[in-house]
Order: sequence, then C-alpha cells, then structure tokens
Amino acid sequence: MMIEEVLNKESFSREDLIRLLSADETESLKIFNKAQQVRKEYVGNKVYFRGLIEYSNICSKNCFYCGIRSGNKNQSRYQLTNQEVIDAARYAHKNRFASIVIQSGERSSKKFIDTIEYLLKEIASLTNDELHVTLSLGEQSEETYKRWFNAGSQRYLLRIETSNPELYKKIHPDNSLHRFESRVENLKLLRNTGFMVGTGVMIGLPFQQIEDLADDLLFFRDFDIDMVGMGPYIEHKNTPLYQYKDQLLPLKERLQLSMKMVALLRIMMKDINIAATTAMQTIDPKGREKALLAGANVMMPNVTPLKYKENYLLYDNKPGTEDDAERGKVAMESDILNAGNEIGYGEWGDPQHFRRRVNR
Ligand code: 5AD
Ligand code: SF4
Repeated sequence: MMIEEVLNKESFSREDLIRLLSADETESLKIFNKAQQVRKEYVGNKVYFRGLIEYSNICSKNCFYCGIRSGNKNQSRYQLTNQEVIDAARYAHKNRFASIVIQSGERSSKKFIDTIEYLLKEIASLTNDELHVTLSLGEQSEETYKRWFNAGSQRYLLRIETSNPELYKKIHPDNSLHRFESRVENLKLLRNTGFMVGTGVMIGLPFQQIEDLADDLLFFRDFDIDMVGMGPYIEHKNTPLYQYKDQLLPLKERLQLSMKMVALLRIMMKDINIAATTAMQTIDPKGREKALLAGANVMMPNVTPLKYKENYLLYDNKPGTEDDAERGKVAMESDILNAGNEIGYGEWGDPQHFRRRVNR
C-alpha cells in the first residue's frame, strides 16, 4: 500500500504500524510532515522545559542494559545533598522552567522515601507551588506513591522499557525485582493515585523486532498514557547486553526508527506530551531538533551539578556531561528556535490529554 493511504487512515492497525515503521527515508518525511501538522493543530508550537535532576546513581536493580546497574562495580556512587537539590530547583524556577524532574536509581528505604517527601514539600514552599515536580524513581509501594503525590508531585515517569513480556525477560534478571507484570501494575497504581503518568520504551534493543515497536505504540494508546519519553537503546560497555553489540541496528537507523516512533505516536495520540530524549542527542548533535520536527514537545535541560554528571551514564558517549546547566540550557534554546518552535517559559505545559482524561 502507498504510504499516504496508510497515513490518512483514521486509526492505525498493527499491520499499518508495521508498514509505517518500515518506511524508507523519503516515505518517512511524509510521516514527519503529518506529525508536524498534528502537533501544530493539537498542542501548538511550544516546547516545555523540564529541568532534569539526576538525584542519585545508587540503584538496587540490575537491568542488563544500564550503566548504573547495581552489578556494575566500576561505577562510583553519589547522591545529591538536599541543598544541591534545592539549589537546582531554584535555578530551574529562576530560569522559568516551570517544572523539574527528579530522577534516580531505584531505592525504597525509609530514609530515601522520607527524603524525597521532604524535598517535595520544601520545593513547593520555596517556589510558592509554582514549580511542578515530576518523579522518575522507579517502582514503589502504593503508600509511597500516595505520600509523594500528597507532598506535591503531579507527574510520574515509569518506562515500561518494552511492551513485549518475553523481550522484557531477556533484558532483565529473572527475579522478583524485575517483573513485567509489576511494571504494568505500577503504571496502574500511579494512575489511580492521581498522577499524570508517563512511560516509554527503548528502540533498537537486541532481539527487538519491528512488530514489538508497533505493539509498544499500541500499548501507549491502550493504556491511554499522558506522556512518553522514548529513545534509541545505546550500548554500555559494562553491561551484559554489550555482548550483542554486533547484532544491533546501526546507530543512524536506531535514530531514524526513534523519530518514526515519535511521529507515529504524535499522530495516534494527538494531545499527549512527548519528550525529545538525550539518547537521540547522543547519536546525532541535531537529534533533539529532529525529535521536535517529528512531533516531540518537551525537552529536559540537565540541571544536575556538573561534578556528578559523569557518574550518571546509563549508556556510552552520553553528551553534555561537561556542560553546566547554563550551557545546556542555551544549547537547548537554540535547538528549539532552529526547529522553528517557541519556548513555553513559565508554563507548566500539562498534557492536555490528562485534563481530557480526568474530566471524562
Ligand atoms: N540506552 C538507552 N536508554 C537507556 N536507559 C537505561 N539504559 C539505557 C541504554 N543503555 C533508559 C531506560 C530507563 C531510563 C532512565 O534510561 O529506559 O528507564
Ligand atoms: Fe536502575 Fe533504572 Fe538503571 Fe534499571 S534502568 S539499573 S532501575 S537506574
């Protein structure tokens, strides 16, 4: 079937998505154009900033793809002080980011949970509730989610990593800490707690097929997700999956596929927030701009204190580890303007999708 014919359908079937994800470069331009139109019409031209705080690289999990997995003994470990978190939040607020993301390896000690709750309350009071906080702290208990929600966080990111349970098993250790079913269960808990919920996948994983990516898109749609962050899988030397590096798609193709995923998701879920991810930037200096052109509308300038950045390497060649927050911000602003977009300074940029979903 001609690409236009598929693109113009009201709704995509699994077969349609497989066809679209297999589009060549010329055909892909048509997908990006359509996604751009949808984006302009439904979410507008603005890009929202989320200042990213990489709070700690201490993690109790051992995911086979990730550089800060607990089994990587070559990694030195850190955690920001409360003051450093608050300073980073103030920086974001002062620069009118309107929103920050606190991300870290997964932990569930009482001290960790209490500290996050304390920080959320502090940030809310220091910024007169003007700075919104997204959490990306892995799987937690329902009680913990409730405490953090009540302390002032509005959004939670928990990537499903892949919607294929078999593939999930291959890229994680086989134990109770790493279960696909609990991942899905946690997304439901987060939703029921009241969070705007974000998820995402890695693209170009070893053993992953085009069919899996089509299913990932259907998973986002069926779950009625509010926000998505997804990007290419990039190998890291000190991880078990590194042994499959020769079976991977070339980096350029992983990027191209990621752009198609972003564009198709924009066409399918018109009013959600989609992030231009750092992993896309890793492959191509213009990766973020390209993600915007494919339909993304959120960027995450890193506001972690510089001295920690080189210790939060989930994959090799992560860019920006030598830039302080100011340089990173300036680079991002120019990416956005280059892509012909505007910056939503001081705007929360809540996904319109969330409002529609809760008002239904
Ligand atoms: N390549 C790309 N993304 C990765 N992540 C972890 N390791 C890698 C990697 N090697 C992503 C996961 C995780 C998020 C914090 O970073 O999707 O959810
Ligand atoms: Fe920990 Fe997240 Fe890395 Fe898994 S992907 S090892 S949970 S930081």
